[in-house]
Amino acid sequence: SSPVKVGLLGLGVVGGGTWKVLARNAQEIARRAGRNIEIVAVAVRDVPKARQMVGEDVLVTRDAFEVVRHPDIDIVVELIGGDTLAHDLVMEAIQQGKHVVTANKALLAKHGNEVFAAAHAKGVMVAFEAAVAGGIPIIKAIREGLSANRIQWLAGIINGTTNYILSEMRMKGLSFAEALADAQRLGYAEADPTFDIEGVDAAHKLTLLASLAFGIPVQFDKAYTEGISNLASEDIDHAERLGYRIKLLGITRRRETGIELRVHPALVPMERLLANVEGAMNAVQVYGDAVGGTLYYGQGAGELPTASAVVADLVDVTRLLAADPEHRVPHLAFQPDAMDDIPILPM
Ligand code: HSE
Repeated sequence: SSPVKVGLLGLGVVGGGTWKVLARNAQEIARRAGRNIEIVAVAVRDVPKARQMVGEDVLVTRDAFEVVRHPDIDIVVELIGGDTLAHDLVMEAIQQGKHVVTANKALLAKHGNEVFAAAHAKGVMVAFEAAVAGGIPIIKAIREGLSANRIQWLAGIINGTTNYILSEMRMKGLSFAEALADAQRLGYAEADPTFDIEGVDAAHKLTLLASLAFGIPVQFDKAYTEGISNLASEDIDHAERLGYRIKLLGITRRRETGIELRVHPALVPMERLLANVEGAMNAVQVYGDAVGGTLYYGQGAGELPTASAVVADLVDVTRLLAADPEHRVPHLAFQPDAMDDIPILPM
């Protein structure tokens, strides 16, 4: 059958990775998806640079709306980030009846309720595996893998940049600034690294995971958020001598009166799994009443790991294109009319 046509917004770290993975594994991917997946247009700031990467057969434009409104395009992949222009583009893509794949946790943490409602009304999919924990299929694990469970809590390291910084400070004695510069150079950090350092990026992701785990609307504004900017090397050393590692954790838990939703540095006993997650790796533990404890581990940031999740979403959406919208998995795991309004507890 004919190829699925994709428009890519952004050709930075993740966009470039997506291009590479699709090119490198084209046959394997087509065999999984049942059709070829072809990028037919890209929207970028630097047209000549993009042209070098994608060649002559792809439409290259500075106008992202041209891609979003392109009649040939089935799926829009949004990788420009931020919650202003990206918001307009994603909403427009949905109105145009396009399916959307996005890595944009900031957008979904703030506007997810609106975006998913619009997609549901229009009968299109918004896939966002790449928005949380990079290459780890954590969205799928919670939404589909654990769908039999009443989930009690989840906790994890969901920001690669801060975990990388803490590891480099502890193991190589780098300063905070040096370690951050390395994380930026390696393509782990957000365009504005304050989001990483102040725990905002982790809170964006945790908000989405809590919605999937508990069937609650997205409520980023209720998350307690504290980052690692006040930590000194001495804190890390002291913790080590006492048998602990300092980790930036995202934790969400069911209590009788509501749900905890918090991101902050924590002392993790050295023998615990999460204490031994180093560098840009991420790990998420999820506890369900039937399955018990589960653990998901892998690269949480960077070019190819994040692209792995973007392309997996492209395969997923391609497979489901022909399916009746009623038979697709709901965006936030619970059916939209069955969401629960449990309060988020103030911290
Ligand atoms: N800046 C993010 C991180 C990228 O460091 O985890 C992946 O979402």
